[in-house]
Amino acid sequence: MRGGLAIEAKGLFKAFDGKTAVDGVDIAVPEGSIYGILGPNGAGKTTTIRMLLGIIDPDRGERTLLGYDEPIKAAPIVGYLPEERGLYPSMTTREVIAFMGALRGLPLEIGRQRAEGMLSQNGLGDYVNKPIKSLSKGMAQTVQLFGTIVHRPKLIVLDEPFSGLDAINQGRLESLIRAEAAEGTTVIFSTHVIAHAERLCERIAIIAGGRLRFEGKVAEARDRLRPQVRLRTRVEDGAWRNALPGNAVKTDGHFQFELPESGIEPLLKTLIDGGAGIEELSIERPGLHDAFVAIAGDAVAREMENSTRVEEQA
Ligand SMILES: Nc1ncnc2c1ncn2[C@@H]1O[C@H](COP(=O)(O)OP(=O)(O)OP(=O)(O)O)[C@@H](O)[C@H]1O
Ligand SMILES: [Mg+2]
Repeated sequence: MRGGLAIEAKGLFKAFDGKTAVDGVDIAVPEGSIYGILGPNGAGKTTTIRMLLGIIDPDRGERTLLGYDEPIKAAPIVGYLPEERGLYPSMTTREVIAFMGALRGLPLEIGRQRAEGMLSQNGLGDYVNKPIKSLSKGMAQTVQLFGTIVHRPKLIVLDEPFSGLDAINQGRLESLIRAEAAEGTTVIFSTHVIAHAERLCERIAIIAGGRLRFEGKVAEARDRLRPQVRLRTRVEDGAWRNALPGNAVKTDGHFQFELPESGIEPLLKTLIDGGAGIEELSIERPGLHDAFVAIAGDAVAREMENSTRVEEQA
């Protein structure tokens, strides 16, 4: 595989009925890594995933999946949980899982054995012989996930896998994703819940309005924002206040501002020399959530500005 990449995509473009859905997305997913595709509703995540898997063809651009230029050829070694869930309601959980494995080339008998193992290890042992229609929505989703990975694919692609799961099952899914990656499997998933990506992913893509707004390490996305300082002083006012950055806001007795480029120490000295009486001081690195809102939000704001300009010109 080229450069140890499980997925490599360049300039993916797709329009539906003349309306652009994905506009020049580049993605590189290292083998064995956990990769997140983040973006607001309608950003183009599902369309991107479908192009990566070869379910739909891009209008322009190229992609390689597990070394195959025709992604569909990799199907036997790929597991895909689509965004729209659905299983045969009358089939038993064991048969559904075995059947999904068989579609990817796994002998039915092995699929049945593995299904029993996965179900019983995850507290669903009582449901092995029960039909899908007797399961709750979250349980059915878990069964579908097992069917997605029963053939032990090299690449697992999950579209919004956390939605519809309670907190406990979300935690279980996080553990499962980590365990798969520890075995060398590549996992890629889409989400709008940033916390999952922050905990799991080495690299992420942020897509908004069909365009790639960021691609890289989670830490690099977070570094796009300056750390935030929170400060509470005993003394209300003094000459030291002029040393605070111009954009400092005071809420609930705290000053809040971005860490100045010069760092905290010159400011500290001024506060101490000026007798401000520091009672609380914290410097916090922004999380991925804030970085996401800034990156995706900027993109949306820019787009609105552009479309207003176009409207004005028209
Ligand atoms: N088959 C289709 N026909 C027409 N338009 C489509 C089709 N699939 C997607 N779109 C449009 O493409 C854009 C991107 O949709 P997509 O489903 O990829 O977004 P998403 O990021 O997965 O959103 P969500 O978070 O809601 O799942 C949307 O404007 C959507 O209406
Ligand atoms: Mg989607």
